Amino acid sequence: MLWLAQAFLAISLVEAQSTPYGNTTNPSNNGSIPVALSNATSPPFYPSPWGDGTGDGWAEAYEKAHAFVRQLTLLEKVNLTTGVGWEGEACVGNVGEIPRLGFRSLCMQDSPLGIRFADYVSAFTSGGTIAASWDRGEWYRRGYQMGMEHRQKGVDVQLGPVVGPLGRNPKGGRNWEGFSPDPVLSGIAVAQTVRGIQDAGVIACTKHYILNEQEHFRQPGNFEDFGFVDAISSNIDDKTLHELYLWPFADAVRAGTGSIMCSYNKINNSQGCQNSYLQNYILKGELGFQGFIMSDWDAQHSGVASSFAGMDMSMPGDTDFDSGLSFWGANLTLSVINGTVPEWRVDDMAVRIMAAYYFVGRDTAQVPVNFNSWSLDTFGYRHAFAQTGYGLINEHVDVRDEHAMAIRTAAAKSTVLLKNNGVLPLTGREKFTAVFGDDSTENPYGPNGCPDHGCDNGTLAMGWGSGTAFYPYLVTPLEAIKNELVPQGRVVQSVVDNWAYDQITALAKQASVAIVFVNSDSGEGYITVDGNMGDRNNLTVWQDGEQLIKNVSASCNNTVVVIHSVGPVLVDSWYESENITAILWAGLPGEQSGNSIADVLYGRVNPGGKIPFTFGRQASDYGPDLIYEPTNGHDSPQDNFEEGVFIDYRAFDKNDITPIYEFGFGLSYTTFSYSDLNVQKVEAGPYTPTTGMTGAAPVLGNSSTDPADYQWPANLTYVKQYIYPYLNSTDGKTASNDSEYGLNYTWPEGATDSSPQPRIAAGGAPGGNPQLWDVLFSVTASITNNGTIPGDEVPQLYISLGGPDDPKVALRNFDRLSIQPGQSATFTADITRRDVSNWDTVSQNWVISNHTKTVYVGSSSRTLPLSAKLQF
Ligand SMILES: *[C@@H]1O[C@H](CO)[C@@H](O)[C@H](O)[C@H]1NC(C)=O
Ligand SMILES: *[C@@H]1O[C@H](CO)[C@@H](O)[C@H](O)[C@H]1NC(C)=O
Ligand SMILES: *[C@@H]1O[C@H](CO)[C@@H](O)[C@H](O)[C@H]1NC(C)=O
Ligand SMILES: *[C@@H]1O[C@H](CO)[C@@H](O)[C@H](O)[C@H]1NC(C)=O
Ligand SMILES: *[C@@H]1O[C@H](CO)[C@@H](O)[C@H](O)[C@H]1NC(C)=O
Ligand SMILES: *[C@@H]1O[C@H](CO)[C@@H](O)[C@H](O)[C@H]1NC(C)=O
Ligand SMILES: *[C@@H]1O[C@H](CO)[C@@H](O)[C@H](O)[C@H]1NC(C)=O
Ligand SMILES: *[C@@H]1O[C@H](CO)[C@@H](O)[C@H](O)[C@H]1NC(C)=O
Ligand SMILES: *[C@@H]1O[C@H](CO)[C@@H](O)[C@H](O)[C@H]1NC(C)=O
Ligand SMILES: *[C@@H]1O[C@H](CO)[C@@H](O)[C@H](O)[C@H]1NC(C)=O
Repeated sequence: MLWLAQAFLAISLVEAQSTPYGNTTNPSNNGSIPVALSNATSPPFYPSPWGDGTGDGWAEAYEKAHAFVRQLTLLEKVNLTTGVGWEGEACVGNVGEIPRLGFRSLCMQDSPLGIRFADYVSAFTSGGTIAASWDRGEWYRRGYQMGMEHRQKGVDVQLGPVVGPLGRNPKGGRNWEGFSPDPVLSGIAVAQTVRGIQDAGVIACTKHYILNEQEHFRQPGNFEDFGFVDAISSNIDDKTLHELYLWPFADAVRAGTGSIMCSYNKINNSQGCQNSYLQNYILKGELGFQGFIMSDWDAQHSGVASSFAGMDMSMPGDTDFDSGLSFWGANLTLSVINGTVPEWRVDDMAVRIMAAYYFVGRDTAQVPVNFNSWSLDTFGYRHAFAQTGYGLINEHVDVRDEHAMAIRTAAAKSTVLLKNNGVLPLTGREKFTAVFGDDSTENPYGPNGCPDHGCDNGTLAMGWGSGTAFYPYLVTPLEAIKNELVPQGRVVQSVVDNWAYDQITALAKQASVAIVFVNSDSGEGYITVDGNMGDRNNLTVWQDGEQLIKNVSASCNNTVVVIHSVGPVLVDSWYESENITAILWAGLPGEQSGNSIADVLYGRVNPGGKIPFTFGRQASDYGPDLIYEPTNGHDSPQDNFEEGVFIDYRAFDKNDITPIYEFGFGLSYTTFSYSDLNVQKVEAGPYTPTTGMTGAAPVLGNSSTDPADYQWPANLTYVKQYIYPYLNSTDGKTASNDSEYGLNYTWPEGATDSSPQPRIAAGGAPGGNPQLWDVLFSVTASITNNGTIPGDEVPQLYISLGGPDDPKVALRNFDRLSIQPGQSATFTADITRRDVSNWDTVSQNWVISNHTKTVYVGSSSRTLPLSAKLQF
């Protein structure tokens, strides 16, 4: 979401006719990669599929939702779908309330790693860091604990988790909010997170749908240097969409995510929140999504068009922050009563919202909202923008429970040991420990001192932007190391000014061990830090960190480097130095940062994390750069995803580039060996495309079309700039405040058709055709701990699909096993139909190609000692 108001731009519903994505094929590469993505168009798809309760647990939720929505008037339905405007209520987003039924305004709150804008909350490990644990249990637990905190503050929808951006390029500013550029790792992590959040009785909002892979130009806006530039268009082909970027969204839908947020960017030149192909056909059609689509903050650019294109909730409701105007609200009321939008479409919006509400049990879990995003004061204005409704706004409810312990464990389990010549774990008996780096210590402004964490002062434990939470405290590495050593009578000193070269050298010379902390930060594009407008400008460490490492290691032959970063950093110029005896990647650990790293440094936790991305030698190794300057004048920069499915390790493998630390790599204080691969074929029936027809759109109301019935109530206490569903005139044009009101309108073909629709072959249930999850093979392997201490290993299963356009290997499964010294454990993993299929653009379905397929098991994407051909 966004902080600063941006120029508002209305874009009418013009979606060029074309074949579905990627059916422009290139014979020279077997047709998989389109010839030209520039100026790609997105085909129309209507009507917007109505939810029908298909999928585990949804039928009952739909029954309740239908019963609820049947009671509603049109104005009340509109209230449910439209936000009240920026800073209109306590949460970062609220829809209208339904006072007649005692139904309070639903509250949407950031973020994917905890609660933004509230006190007495936990700051959890970020998504991109906990991905490195490769631990399904940790992902679920984090989701559940975040959900519990939101629940107790009164939040209905937690705005997370994130799988868009996926992480096409490591410079992408918000990659760290998500999990990994690998779709399977991300898919399993997002599903576990969704389950956790929703089991706590809070609706998860999986975001940002889709291809929101960079911050620059994500929205239309006026730029100091370039003037107006329209939103970037991420141009993609159908195969890449399905096999890479859509994959984790399918997992989130299958896990039951109650809502999905449409993104700021355009996709194939159609704005994300009014892209009928992606919302109607792909998400609600093929993936059978039963919940609701909410807009990113001000990502809505049309009223009628976004209604038909499948959007269900407008956030924060106003056309532009605090404009007092809305594409929906009164306009949605008007569009129904003037016959443009059929009431069943608005019913479907309301039903989807209420179905998600019942699906997670909000009817029993909801408590009153007891905080206010816009002030930490106890008393203040309920309506912050209007400055009205003075009273108790913050009850300061401490919702942290015992989560700190879990956060400490999760971050330690997510720490990755990249290099160790035997110095780690430290014993704590080192005579003289020296700690270096601004990244080891407090932000002088305090842990929450920079708005939305938009600065790089002190130790880095989360990125910046809306995807952040307030810290209750931030345990710094320096504090934790002192706590470790001082009671044992050791000497420990630090220099935290990275530019104090003389003092750094003097201290390094004395040290028996030097621990250097460096970082690299990024965040959301509305804040610029050190010249980085959200996206990183480069992949080196910040704050002169490279020089700091060199200065320390020049004078100390036992230098341990700890990296806190949003993603990969360039280590090429120093990682091989023999004085650098160990390197750890600690990511963005959250509030317990120092304790977690001390647990690993001093051996209480044997590292078992594996990097969820690739450390390359140079930025260009990762493929196409981000777009930092307009490339198309004032029109949308055309961001052509021409590399197809080849991002991160798939790109390194394809282009034969040797990484420094490959995807999936991570050391332990013990060692493991792999043996005894066994692959069992499992009988599964044939794959049958879904056929047949849906039911007709349910009709849950038949509202009056007389404008007189929708006028402002005389007794309403109007809140300034607040969005209401009412009309201020019986004349439509006056009420809409739109000079184009009533102009000739051509409905997109099929948009108002409420008759039964054909089901989609690759669909059939939430996530897609259920047979995609049929198990075709069961794999086991034996993993032995060859050392003298217990440790965790993450055996990884990769598959080569064998075709000329397939990645050399693609991750398909994994498990994290704790193994005692000298003992073996059995790694067990299923291979599903989906795991061995490719997306076929012609049949619009998943197919198993005739190419020979090989399964690999090993400890990283490039250490794969076990392999076998798959015999179908
Ligand atoms: C894309 O469209 C723009 C504006 O119409 C045009 O100038 C440009 O040549 C087109 N690019 C391609 C590759 O067709
Ligand atoms: C719509 O919501 C607003 C508050 O958000 C409330 O004042 C109004 O009464 C609601 N209207 C209806 C028809 O429920
Ligand atoms: C209705 O939507 C139009 C844009 O389509 C906008 O200009 C107008 O201000 C809106 N009206 C109201 C009352 O919000
Ligand atoms: C905090 O960081 C900003 C840049 O992000 C820098 O300009 C400023 O000097 C730093 N302040 C302190 C007190 O460290
Ligand atoms: C990369 O960006 C960081 C943060 O802005 C900056 O400190 C560093 O000097 C840059 N590195 C290079 C090589 O330009
Ligand atoms: C390693 O550290 C020693 C001091 O212990 C120093 O003399 C030597 O030059 C360093 N070597 C490198 C390659 O920095
Ligand atoms: C560093 O140098 C000292 C003194 O020469 C030596 O005793 C020690 O073993 C060296 N440490 C490492 C890790 O090489
Ligand atoms: C406003 O008037 C309506 C109908 O006259 C009534 O139902 C409603 O309760 C009143 N609302 C308030 C806030 O007084
Ligand atoms: C119906 O209402 C919508 C929303 O205000 C408006 O855009 C449209 O032009 C209206 N159509 C007619 C036929 O009045
Ligand atoms: C793709 O193009 C081919 C050849 O024009 C056509 O036969 C096929 O139906 C198209 N597929 C889709 C899904 O439109």
